[in-house]
Amino acid sequence: MDMKKEIAYKASDMDRIIYRYLPKEEGYQATVFQAMNYSLLAGGKRIRPILMMETYKLFGESSKAIEPFVAAIEMIHTYSLVHDDLPAMDNDTLRRGRPTTHAKFGEAMGILAGDALLNYAFETALTALSVEPDNPAVVQALQLLAKKAGVYGMIGGQVADVEAEKQYGISKNRLDFIYRLKTGALIEAAMMIGALLGGAGGAEVEQIGQVAEKIGLAFQIQDDVLDVVGDEEVLGKTIGSDARNQKATYVVFEGLEKARQDVASLTGEAVGILRDLPYENVFLTELLRWMVRREK
Ligand code: IPE
Ligand code: IPE
Ligand code: MG
Ligand code: MG
Ligand code: MG
Repeated sequence: MDMKKEIAYKASDMDRIIYRYLPKEEGYQATVFQAMNYSLLAGGKRIRPILMMETYKLFGESSKAIEPFVAAIEMIHTYSLVHDDLPAMDNDTLRRGRPTTHAKFGEAMGILAGDALLNYAFETALTALSVEPDNPAVVQALQLLAKKAGVYGMIGGQVADVEAEKQYGISKNRLDFIYRLKTGALIEAAMMIGALLGGAGGAEVEQIGQVAEKIGLAFQIQDDVLDVVGDEEVLGKTIGSDARNQKATYVVFEGLEKARQDVASLTGEAVGILRDLPYENVFLTELLRWMVRREK
């Protein structure tokens, strides 16, 4: 399988879904719409939508309401990046190959575009209730999305991440907490929502949650590795950001070599759990393996 080509193909499928939910750039608040669309359309990898859709396929595509969730997860992820790049946070000026949203539209619009994307994500996800008002899986998916994006999920992780700056002495437990929440939570939401709407039972959704937890951890460790050894052109974002901000990262904690090994072994464990399920999606397994090798 030519993974680069396959992923590009799947990402453009996801883009077609996302486009359908984009706001029109009109009215007195047009600037915020422009800033939202600017950050969303800048060409991210669309990993979370793809993971959601492929997990949904793995379980048999039971619900008709997957598309609003696909768009919503990418909106929440994109807002997290817009805010992550703000001067008060990581203070970065390059994202997805372009100036960051605040660098382009100013700090106030950066904050507001992030807020707007988060709220709009829920406006979008809630349309699933009009598609399938009586499906309890849709309600569970909405609850999961809200929780994994919030203080018990991504936001909670970002709080601990900011507070760990310049704290190289933090415990491994605290470092794991940061990674599991700031990055793992949205990857868990993506895969668990895909499972729920695909038709998975409770135990299977939990099993997918375990796969996603490991993949989320591996994904963030690889992100930290790329912040050190990546190519800014390929990556499309500022390298060396973690060192500049004196972040407590896995690479600082364990060293580059061990970090790389752990990305591979966590991915192996995730693939193992996935394989225990009585269903198969070859592309999904290959995607998890590709994520170890990614250069962007
Ligand atoms: C970057 O996420 C932030 C992390 C959680 C590591 P991605 O690497 O998925 O960024 P895009 O969406 O492709 O820009
Ligand atoms: C960010 O982690 C995770 C988010 C929730 C946005 P990083 O700060 O390492 O992400 P990048 O490297 O800026 O994409
Ligand atoms: Mg950050
Ligand atoms: Mg950052
Ligand atoms: Mg990073």
